[in-house]
Amino acid sequence: MPVSDKCSALRARKEVGPPIAALTAWDYPTARLLDEAGTDLILVGDSLGMVVLGFPDTTHVTLDHMLHHVAAAARGCREALLVADFAIRSYDSEAEAVETARALGDAGAEAVKLEGGVRQAGKVKAIVEEGIPVLGHLGMLPQRVKEEGGYRTKGKSTDEISALLKGAEALEQAGCFGIVLENVVPGVAAEVTTSIGIPTIGIGCGTDSCDGEIAVTSDVIGSYPWFVPPFATQRADVAGEIRRAVSDYIVHCQSAERSTVPAPAAP
Ligand code: KIV
Repeated sequence: MPVSDKCSALRARKEVGPPIAALTAWDYPTARLLDEAGTDLILVGDSLGMVVLGFPDTTHVTLDHMLHHVAAAARGCREALLVADFAIRSYDSEAEAVETARALGDAGAEAVKLEGGVRQAGKVKAIVEEGIPVLGHLGMLPQRVKEEGGYRTKGKSTDEISALLKGAEALEQAGCFGIVLENVVPGVAAEVTTSIGIPTIGIGCGTDSCDGEIAVTSDVIGSYPWFVPPFATQRADVAGEIRRAVSDYIVHCQSAERSTVPAPAAP
């Protein structure tokens, strides 16, 4: 399906449902499994910095990291809309944002996602004018974790609520086809959702407050057990399965039976 049709179909889900089901992926097998399962939108999120590359937060992710993982995920994605995150400091100006969006598109992304509201509207407009669809991201912004001194729920003060509403309006006006809302007070996420005509996709915003949900796949499948956000629902224990299978393998390798296999005769 052409990318513009995929975006229109996602926009229509705000009115006609069902809610959008979105997940993250960073490599070929994950993207292919999610795509085959019917995921609507697959995000190559910069959360890969933490759950795949082992950094403490997303501020260490570079454009080169993103290009490498977008290309791999794109090879596994057929039906879902494949969205790529901008790495921090790869979209500091309108010109750089357009250049980076083109590079992500060349790597296989069908759309791009950037963090921020009113201050990003000019960049969104410029990228959309290039023909590249943009997904916005408001609420808790992981790329600002250092300035903010941690991950905080947004929408607790009137200033924050006003910034969210104005940001959502600016992103819609600039041409975003949807907005991720991260870690926003559920009632405020619902207010933002009804205030705009494009779908909101929530993470950490409770249920039923947005037009869909996105989750970091490692949180859903339990493949990164060292940090799980409090709002995540783990639905499998991949880390436990890997540990079990690897222990089993080690026992197999070190078992007496195997060590008694006769060595091949010398030629
Ligand atoms: O990078 C990411 O995985 C994200 C999701 C949390 C939406 O931006």
